[in-house]
Amino acid sequence: MTTETTGTAARDGDPRPGGPADSPFIRACRRRPGPHTPVWFMRQAGRSLPEYREIRASVPMLESCRRADLVTEITLQPVRRHGVDAAILFSDIVVPVAAAGIDLDIVPGTGPVVAEPIRSAADVERIRLITRDDVPYVDEAVRQLVVELGDTPLIGFAGAPFTLASYLVEGGPSRTHAKTKALMYGDPELWHALAGRLAEVTLAFLRVQIEAGVSAVQLFDSWAGTLSEADYRRYVLPHSTAVLSGLADDCSGSGRGDRRAEPEQSHAGVPRIHFGVGTAELLGAMGEAGADVVGVDWRTPLDVATGRIGPDKAVQGNLDPCVLLAPWPVVEAEVRRILDQGRAAPGHVFNLGHGVLPETDPEVLTRVVALVHELSSRRADQG
Ligand code: CP3
Repeated sequence: MTTETTGTAARDGDPRPGGPADSPFIRACRRRPGPHTPVWFMRQAGRSLPEYREIRASVPMLESCRRADLVTEITLQPVRRHGVDAAILFSDIVVPVAAAGIDLDIVPGTGPVVAEPIRSAADVERIRLITRDDVPYVDEAVRQLVVELGDTPLIGFAGAPFTLASYLVEGGPSRTHAKTKALMYGDPELWHALAGRLAEVTLAFLRVQIEAGVSAVQLFDSWAGTLSEADYRRYVLPHSTAVLSGLADDCSGSGRGDRRAEPEQSHAGVPRIHFGVGTAELLGAMGEAGADVVGVDWRTPLDVATGRIGPDKAVQGNLDPCVLLAPWPVVEAEVRRILDQGRAAPGHVFNLGHGVLPETDPEVLTRVVALVHELSSRRADQG
């Protein structure tokens, strides 16, 4: 009932008071005023929390992503503990790729490792298109979470074509992305076939999450910052645009024929966040891909970022995750600076510039949430 009311109302631009579509987070994504600046943290569900480490002690990473009960519990943990303004689904960017038929594992201390890296057109053909039936645990977890979270919005996510392609071509994490770039420059046709296929998988995966009820989505192009703007525009932007604009087509009702769940969900037009690391030179292009919110890492002040992104998009960021390891007065000063610089943007979602580091004291995260709320609502009072 909650989702139905909210979805219908959101489409009409008049969200049900108190529902997820009227939350401070969704309001900021839509550049609407709200009671305070919303805050959540990339990787908030995960390794910094003892209650997470306890669950994972006996369960491998990919298995934990495929058990809806565990996904639901791990996703809720940071919401209970910190009082963040949004939950993000616990999963990994390689989950849909594994569901598409690629043999991979997440190796502790290393990250995703692909058994047979993608190097040829025949390899690209091994990446199947996916439907909800390939990721039933994601559909189920999102539906459970929407009920459990009530008025707190749930963010769905996926990896962007470039970042996914990097893991598939390299076979694992890479500092230089040399094999990926060699393929891109040396065989553009094969590159576009691979990135195009990954865009289709990603779009399908995000649609599953939206139809199950997420309130927003984030596209992670974590490693896009390794490219020049010219190469980003030529080799990556068309594919990320296919994903983000593909979701926008769903809103206008022109994009799809079948597999619609409740109409109000597929019409929800959920806000789209587009994020990468080291993307100072790419911020404008990443916005152009079809984002409502552009994620900014800690290197670019939010007022400067807003100048590059333009006045019709909100920003998300951008506390350096390492600052959370410093004494509290340093953290406090940085939070104040970021809130001040974020006022230049037409909407600001407070976040880190990249994910929470494992060694972060969770109590500092809780204090940051309280401080962001206090400082931003006091400003409204003084209004
Ligand atoms: O919190 C944790 O790190 C523990 C669980 C875990 C995740 N991914 C959660 C995750 C583990 C062990 C991984 C494996 C993995 N996958 C790694 C190594 C992680 C490490 O540092 O040990 C990496 C680099 C990947 C690939 C990956 N996954 C990328 C590039 C991204 C995009 C976000 C980013 O960090 O740049 C992900 C997404 C991801 N992995 C999420 C979660 C919960 C979702 C996003 C979020 O919560 O912000």
